[in-house]
Amino acid sequence: MTPKEWSVHNSDGDHRVIVTKALPGTRWLDILVSAACRVEVCTSEDVLTVGEIKERIGESCDGVIGQLTEGWNADLFATLASAGGTAYSNFAVGYNNVDIPAATAAEIPVGNTPGVLTETTAERAVALTFSAGRRIAEADRFMRGGEYVGWRPALFMGTRFDGGTVGVIGAGRIGAAYGRMMVEGHKMNLVYFDLYPNEALEQYIADYSEFLVAHGESPVTTKRVETIEDLLAVSDVVSLHTVLDETTHHLINAERLAVMKSDAILVNSSRGPVIDEDALVAHCRTNPEFTAGLDVFEDEPAMKEGLADLDNVVIVPHIASATKWTREGMATLAAANVAGLLQGYPLWDSDDVLPFLSGDVPRAVPSIVNATELSIE
Ligand SMILES: NC(=O)c1ccc[n+]([C@@H]2O[C@H](COP(=O)([O-])OP(=O)(O)OC[C@H]3O[C@@H](n4cnc5c(N)ncnc54)[C@H](O)[C@@H]3O)[C@@H](O)[C@H]2O)c1
Repeated sequence: MTPKEWSVHNSDGDHRVIVTKALPGTRWLDILVSAACRVEVCTSEDVLTVGEIKERIGESCDGVIGQLTEGWNADLFATLASAGGTAYSNFAVGYNNVDIPAATAAEIPVGNTPGVLTETTAERAVALTFSAGRRIAEADRFMRGGEYVGWRPALFMGTRFDGGTVGVIGAGRIGAAYGRMMVEGHKMNLVYFDLYPNEALEQYIADYSEFLVAHGESPVTTKRVETIEDLLAVSDVVSLHTVLDETTHHLINAERLAVMKSDAILVNSSRGPVIDEDALVAHCRTNPEFTAGLDVFEDEPAMKEGLADLDNVVIVPHIASATKWTREGMATLAAANVAGLLQGYPLWDSDDVLPFLSGDVPRAVPSIVNATELSIE
């Protein structure tokens, strides 16, 4: 294995912090340096193995900013704890790559980066919805392949969204933002499935519906359904926005695909294993009118056999949060998590994390997922 390359910033800093991939922007580094951290950044493109991360942590390390491509297990947290580490942050809002009970057992707080990915990720889901439903990638390949010989009445016919039904599975921050974009943009009716009701979303759409009626347009509706099957049966578009855990692994499987409309659109910008990808390949083969837009894959970066051969699937490489503003914001929040913990700051008491992104950095820790378990105020 080729040795990885590292860059070191503020080499005389008091706290040793490891960052397992180079991050966008500079604010994140300024935050760590201002907190008297010596910052060691892995500048190689390859994913670090658990063994390489352990080796880098060595005998003394105060904190780490890690990536969703790394399995932060009990072994790694025990290594970090015995090196004196007291802070970890994921560079992501999701943390299915982190063994939270193991981190808690090692008394290491785990940070994440909510609030700066919401609209960006929802916008990508919208883009995938339209790319799949209006066959953008397929038509692009057709043009580049020199196959366009003239306008035809039935060339690449796709889905009409206006007035249809959009189904959101997991109506949290991103799912609700996606739902609103599809309802406001295309006057779709919304159904959603979640473990909890999203009253703010329901109220927002009820108010929007009143606005439409006041302007002489048809109302739109929203409904929380009892079962996933209820949602799948009525939706023209289904978009997945749950966390990945044992309750959502293979949430979309062969049986549930069979419940969907034969010309429905399925979008996944949550995590790959939420869909049984082999079952999706089989379903798309036998249902050519069905389309899918995928940002994430079950065995990332690999794809299941046959997926890339399907014209009715649009595939992009896990880039749902890839805008400069969002990725720099994620880096800033991850750094503020680690720097804040090392300086003994209290938890930020609001969902609004924008104050961290410009001006003076608040003397607080933006987001810790095991704060309650570790009794962090
Ligand atoms: N593709 C990407 O680049 C990308 C970017 C950002 C987030 N994500 C993924 O999106 C997920 C959601 O992010 P968020 O900020 O909206 O989180 P969130 O916590 O606000 O929303 C998640 C929602 O899923 C619901 N949920 C959990 N288990 C469920 C189940 N079994 N059935 C139905 N609903 C369930 C929760 O109640 C919650 O409302 C993240 O966990 C992450 O995995 C992916």
